[in-house]
Amino acid sequence: MSDRRPSSGFSTKFEEFQGEFDSHEALYKYSIGQTDEFWGRCAMSRLSWTQPPKTINASDVNSGEIKWFQDGKLNVCYNCVDRHLPNHADKPALIWERDDSSKSRKVSYRELHEYICKFANVLKAHGVQKGDRVAIYLPVGLQGAAAMLACARIGAVHSVIFTGFSAEALAHRIDDADCKLLLAQDYTDRGGKTINLKQIVIDAANKSQSLRKTLVYSEAGNRDGWLESFEDLSSQIDAASSDCQIVEVSAEDPLFLLYTSGSTGKPKGLVHTSAGYLLYAQMTVKHVFDFEPSDIFACVADIGWITGHTYVVYGPLANGGTTLCFDSHPLYPNAGRYWETVARYHVTQFYGAPTAYRMLLRLGNEFVKSHDLSSLRVIGSVGEPINVAAWTWLHQVVGNGKCDIVDTWWQTETGGNLLTPRPSNQGAEIKPGMAMRQFYGIEVAICDPGTGKEIAWESGKKIEGALCFKKPWPGMARTIYGNHKRFLETYYNPYPGMYFSGDGAVRDEDGYVTITGRMDDVINISGHRLGTAEIEDVLNSHESVSETAVIGIPHEIKGESAVAFSILKDQVDLKQENVRSELIQLVRGRLAKFAAPEKIYFVNGLPKTRSGKIMRRILRKISAGQIDEIGDVTTLADPPVVQHIIEKVVGAK
Ligand code: PRX
Repeated sequence: MSDRRPSSGFSTKFEEFQGEFDSHEALYKYSIGQTDEFWGRCAMSRLSWTQPPKTINASDVNSGEIKWFQDGKLNVCYNCVDRHLPNHADKPALIWERDDSSKSRKVSYRELHEYICKFANVLKAHGVQKGDRVAIYLPVGLQGAAAMLACARIGAVHSVIFTGFSAEALAHRIDDADCKLLLAQDYTDRGGKTINLKQIVIDAANKSQSLRKTLVYSEAGNRDGWLESFEDLSSQIDAASSDCQIVEVSAEDPLFLLYTSGSTGKPKGLVHTSAGYLLYAQMTVKHVFDFEPSDIFACVADIGWITGHTYVVYGPLANGGTTLCFDSHPLYPNAGRYWETVARYHVTQFYGAPTAYRMLLRLGNEFVKSHDLSSLRVIGSVGEPINVAAWTWLHQVVGNGKCDIVDTWWQTETGGNLLTPRPSNQGAEIKPGMAMRQFYGIEVAICDPGTGKEIAWESGKKIEGALCFKKPWPGMARTIYGNHKRFLETYYNPYPGMYFSGDGAVRDEDGYVTITGRMDDVINISGHRLGTAEIEDVLNSHESVSETAVIGIPHEIKGESAVAFSILKDQVDLKQENVRSELIQLVRGRLAKFAAPEKIYFVNGLPKTRSGKIMRRILRKISAGQIDEIGDVTTLADPPVVQHIIEKVVGAK
């Protein structure tokens, strides 16, 4: 398929195993047969330890207790930065591609090291110690990445909150982890517009119970309207010493928390620990993306998501490469921004989201073709299913038929890519729109939601069910902060002895995996994960609303969009348009702009079982116009409500 395929023989990549295996298949079998030995050898050769581990794996998927390399000690920042200084101090560690590209800058390993050391000294001066949680509300870029690494340097635990989240969402995450310190920014530019983060930070600081101090990065140095608890970050970094010793941590000490949505309740803070996460980040960058230290890796995610953690910050830097932080918008100043950036820096790996690819492909190929993209070798896709049209466009137009397209499936919980077409058998073809294969050490199980048991797969047989994993791997989340019970209930109890992802999947005749979507009430808008319950909670908090059901429906660009069915309180005089726009504003303000429902229907009732469970499946069928497929509704508590909702939806079209 490609005449420029990365050197796909495993032997050029796995220096550790040279000469022992003669195919990828043999090495993969070893990785799942002698899993502990495999990861142990990788951990020794890929990471720098202050005390190498003797115990490799003490995990038990039956009890959900996950522990890797537990008696080992190291420092994550040292592994990402310091250890590259002797040979690569002047090499760019980070390229900060800013909204106004004339302000973009390259930061060498030496400069990044110095900046992180100063930053870490500022944190220490504010009393931050090993194990303390630090909230970060900074966009992707030098300050954001350095904030994460400065925490890692002193053993503090960062919790990055995406700067698209509202004050309420920010305050909830700060308080849930009992963060005392917030690192934030006042303004940022995106798509040629200035975005005011300051007001959100002020509102969050006022709402938060736990926060004591906020250090604000202000490019303009304008302190107007700051609260008393706000201090200037950049002047403190400038004044700090650039000498900062690393703090040794245990392999299982937490590195960060990252909040993500579940099907019920408030977003949960997944906990990732130090050595296992770092090893998994290092290995997936190297092997999925065929990454070499001379490469320029451009993952265009924000650091507010797991993709930004693993594939902007930790993975590329642990490999001693150059990472590009994309701090702009794919349409600014025009739809060629990604490709112009690739050409300007000779990017070798590009990693983005299907929602952006779908948007760009509609705008015409000239935005791609006017740039020299010959440096690209691998193009990745993440966060949601990639449709075949977008995959083909990436392959034919962006990759010029010469790049490997890797559709990577994974989750906040998994730490890094689990399913991906690469690495693979030498020269094996990649199937369009499919994550396909298991990474080293990963063993998939498709389970029957009815029996809770694995469905046996054999060559030539196609099976479908719940996507689970049989073996622990070093990069997986260890717990939900403050709620290990919820962690076990969500991931380990549904299919005993396995990690349950929440997704459904098909395993085809060749053993390749395709994702069919979430099996729970989680939706995915432009790659952003949200629980329908979170949106429902906000809508129900409006004084005119008594009850709401939210569903996700397919959307051509965003993948999915939210649709709400709300019951208004009796006394509400139906100025429905006003209520509708208030509701949309409410979601934008209290959750995030991207969470706002595409449509809100006001209905008299919802389809519920007699035990009161909302049948969202029926709402999805009605929204999709698949009235014939609704099935038997006679067992519902109020069957006529279905016809009423059909009329509302059809009438609105
Ligand atoms: O449903 C799957 C979908 O995104 C979910 C994970 O979301 P999040 O934790 O926010 O992490 C996103 C970045 C890894 C999964 O449960 N998903 C992720 N990647 C894919 C995908 N669905 C289909 N194909 C993918 N490649």
